[in-house]
Amino acid sequence: MPHCITLIPGDGIGPEVADATKRVLAGTGVNIEWDVQHSGLQALEESGDALPDATVESVRANGVALKGPTTTPVGKGHVSANVRLRRALDLYASIRPAKSMPGVVSRYEDLDLVVVRENTEGLYSGQEVQVTDGVVVSIKVVTEAASRRIATAAFEYARKNGRKRVTAVHKANIMKMGDGFFLECVGDIAKGYPEIQYDTAIIDALCMQLVRNPNVFDVMLMENLYGDIISDLCAGLVGGLGVVPGANIGADVAVFEAVHGSAPDIAGQGVANPLGLIKSAVLMLEHIGELSAAERLYSAIEQTMLDPKARTADLGGNATTNDVVDAILEAC
Ligand code: NAI
Repeated sequence: MPHCITLIPGDGIGPEVADATKRVLAGTGVNIEWDVQHSGLQALEESGDALPDATVESVRANGVALKGPTTTPVGKGHVSANVRLRRALDLYASIRPAKSMPGVVSRYEDLDLVVVRENTEGLYSGQEVQVTDGVVVSIKVVTEAASRRIATAAFEYARKNGRKRVTAVHKANIMKMGDGFFLECVGDIAKGYPEIQYDTAIIDALCMQLVRNPNVFDVMLMENLYGDIISDLCAGLVGGLGVVPGANIGADVAVFEAVHGSAPDIAGQGVANPLGLIKSAVLMLEHIGELSAAERLYSAIEQTMLDPKARTADLGGNATTNDVVDAILEAC
């Protein structure tokens, strides 16, 4: 029986990296039947909706999706299709591993960090109002239910993956109520995981420490906006946005996507690094129980990165997207 999986190519470099990932997955021999659906700017232009109902229904029915990045206009225009998708399917946990790869030059070696980001509330609540001329209020929402379940997701992840430590990231010295409440909820959940070291870090100090001495961290748990920012920072520590994968997990549904965006500056040139989405596909293979294919694909990626000729421009090489795919397929 094939795995029925929704494929959302997305905008910009999305279709290029989605196509690359499809080719690599075909090479693993895992039987996947793709249900191609659309979301983002292109979907908006074609159907009048950046997140058509058919796309949401397909992901709900299949339970798993692989998604390319979608473009969101800045400051005006439609609500982010990503934010809508995460809300519609209650994809509350974003898991973003940032792991060093052999051959990929970065400031530090042997980094193995994981960002666990709350995906449904915080400053992404979409509740913004102009209260009077010259005054705009953006509401940061922190609920007990969402804070407890993201904390549970982080500690369960740590337990399942043999992680030693979870650090809750906050700014409760300033947002005493909102972030303070988040910390209170996380601290309570932490009591159920005595084998995992639990501590907290103020976000600004964490940024400094991540740049100077990132090896001290393990799993970092945080609300939505902090997670967005810290995952890009962590991507920068292990080779850049082009190489970092992500998973958005809900109770019954999971959507796998890279951390990077639609990169309009390089779209259509065939030079995008496909590793972010291909590594997201590794997480997807693990999620659907194709463990040996996931392992084979990951070690093929690692082997490929040892060859400078298989590195795209963001990694200092001049390989095309297709060159990377060909090299991975050869190593598979
Ligand atoms: P971006 O991640 O698209 O690009 C930032 C920089 O990284 C650019 O110089 C780009 O060329 C480079 N880059 C990104 N991915 C790359 C890859 N795979 N290979 C080589 N270079 C890569 O971030 P930006 O420019 O802030 O956002 C562009 C659009 O993407 C916006 O509309 C934004 O809303 C959207 N976006 C979508 C996301 C998603 O769908 N999950 C996530 C982040 C941004």
